[in-house]
Amino acid sequence: MNRIDLSTDYLGLRLSSPLVASASPLSRSLDTAKRLEDAGAGAIVMYSLFEEELHHQEEAASRFLINAGIGHGEADSFLPFGSSYRHGLDQYLEQLAALKRTLDIPVIASLNGTSLDGWVDHGQWLEEAGADALELNVYYLCADPNESGAGVEERYLELLRALRKQVSVPISMKLSPYFSGLAHFVACLEQAGADGVVLFNRFYQPDIDLDNLQVTSQLTWSRSADIQLPLRWVALLYGKVGLSLATTSGVHTADDALKLILAGADVTQLCSVLLEKGPGHLATIQQNMIAWLDRNEYRSIADVKGYLSRERCADPGIFDRSNYLALLDNYSRAKGVRR
Ligand SMILES: Cc1cc2nc3c(=O)[nH]c(=O)nc-3n(C[C@H](O)[C@H](O)[C@H](O)COP(=O)(O)O)c2cc1C
Repeated sequence: MNRIDLSTDYLGLRLSSPLVASASPLSRSLDTAKRLEDAGAGAIVMYSLFEEELHHQEEAASRFLINAGIGHGEADSFLPFGSSYRHGLDQYLEQLAALKRTLDIPVIASLNGTSLDGWVDHGQWLEEAGADALELNVYYLCADPNESGAGVEERYLELLRALRKQVSVPISMKLSPYFSGLAHFVACLEQAGADGVVLFNRFYQPDIDLDNLQVTSQLTWSRSADIQLPLRWVALLYGKVGLSLATTSGVHTADDALKLILAGADVTQLCSVLLEKGPGHLATIQQNMIAWLDRNEYRSIADVKGYLSRERCADPGIFDRSNYLALLDNYSRAKGVRR
């Protein structure tokens, strides 16, 4: 098999592979992160630093100041500022710096939160600790009848602008699919300084346990079918916006990753499959991708990227509403199902 060039550009970074390890606990261990690199990951996104952890740090700081002010001079021996206490931000910065020392591939730090009260300003610390880029995950569920879609978009843009002011490294926005004018919003993000988007955040949905009459919530692995929503949107956005396109959700096999790249993704992120099968499985997916490219006489990722995007495929309508009507027209009942 001749050598096939898997390299791709993402957020202005040259990656050796379009397979990127998604934000997950896998980056909490240096050994696991190294195994991801050895398996061929093009970059690694760290688990998120959550807004709540940053607020916790601020609360702890003000508790310390208040206590110090009322005369507990010995406070620094038991308040959480001694060397034994490592708050969220410190821990995160240490792990980021350690990942940078251990790995040659780019390390993308991740910030996760929703409020507009200044937490993204901490992004500058991540840049200083060596992050090659930042991923901003605004995990925001708008259930307030008084908040409009325009208001939600403005919240995202405001957070992005605030972070953009703090850092010069590339920023990608990890989005949910719930935007009424997604293409326009992505263009607004680009104008506001985003270098890429990650499509789409996977929301973990609540359920109801009928036996115990309780609302439950649990993490479930994605399935390959989950690539279809990001696939459509990457195909629609490819060639229309200038920023990098990443997908997350549902990549379990080489076929999944190839489909997303054919639709126009610069990179695809993997999480569930790596948690299920271990970091080394990334190498199997990569080898199978290479085998497919070789069998079909492609020499590089660049040869296939966007080849079946809406802009370039033979039947662009398939990504649009018109295809919906055609599908309904051609629907035939399963054998044995009565009218
Ligand atoms: C255990 C677990 C932890 C995760 N932690 C984060 C996180 O810290 N930040 C984040 O943006 N996404 C996080 N995610 C979401 C993943 O990065 C990914 O976007 C999602 O699981 C969809 O990809 P998949 O189908 O490959 O699992 C987490 C997912 C799982 C299962």
